[in-house]
Amino acid sequence: MRHVIDILDLSTEEIGGLLATAQDIIARPEAYSELCRGKKLATLFFEPSTRTRLSFEAAMYELGGNVLSVTGAATSSASKGESVADTAKVVSCYADIIAMRHPKEGAALVAANNASIPVINAGDGGHCHPTQTLADLLTILREKGRLGDLTVGLCGDLKFGRTVHSLINALSRYENVKFVLISPEELKLPSYVKDSVLKPRGIAYTQTSDLEGALPDLDLLYMTRVQKERFFNEEDYLRLKDSYILTPEKMRLARPDMCVLHPLPRVNEISVAIDNDPRACYFKQVLNGKYMRMALILMLLREAGKLPSAKKPAVRPLETV
Ligand code: CP
Repeated sequence: MRHVIDILDLSTEEIGGLLATAQDIIARPEAYSELCRGKKLATLFFEPSTRTRLSFEAAMYELGGNVLSVTGAATSSASKGESVADTAKVVSCYADIIAMRHPKEGAALVAANNASIPVINAGDGGHCHPTQTLADLLTILREKGRLGDLTVGLCGDLKFGRTVHSLINALSRYENVKFVLISPEELKLPSYVKDSVLKPRGIAYTQTSDLEGALPDLDLLYMTRVQKERFFNEEDYLRLKDSYILTPEKMRLARPDMCVLHPLPRVNEISVAIDNDPRACYFKQVLNGKYMRMALILMLLREAGKLPSAKKPAVRPLETV
């Protein structure tokens, strides 16, 4: 049974295929509107979410399927002590595919090891968020026309920001991608990401706390929220939460074609005055997430033999994918 727990569970060829399918869905939504008729997606969200849960659910509805939903541990039998493993076995009796978010790192893998249907990790603690990365990749491709030859600034909470970890893993597989890691000392990218991804693959990266200094060189700026829910100490959170605020004044330092991404939710790190700047791409990212989740649901249901196999999408991936 095929699951997607980490973005590295997908090869670059498969990601290229998902990008092509998503672009075809954008071009011909009616061709996809009945493909999942009679199929059920279970969204098991044991941690808050707006975008990921709703976009998975919108994705399944737009494919003609149905949705079963758990929203929060308190309203499920997790509150009575049911394990993730048992939950996965139970939900496998009702649904065809699971999207799960959980506050504990590794929970999605436990679910996958016990489910008899495909499991998609919709965020596990501070670890990974592969479908956010799929949304990010489609946005980068649509905005920049390529996934290689990019200087990518990642700014904010690089320690707990699981979207950053997944995006670094994904973009490191394309040619000539350089990273500028912009964070306070306390929120630097964990060593395990540098040691397991950047260093072995020889990826160029620099670390700095100076956003203004980094801005002029960037093709993309990926802003992130300081992850309050992962802090043990409120005092530390309050001290660090406003480390970076992107303002129109700072945007004057950036290239005219720099693209600003953010996985959202935003707290204070991007001024709303930037929302109408053509370089602000974070709401486009939200919409792209739905298309990529549609493509992923289709791929996994087909591989599980729950849907007939695909015809080749009409839209070809760009050459760089
Ligand atoms: N980007 C993201 O994961 O948003 P939600 O927490 O609202 O799902």
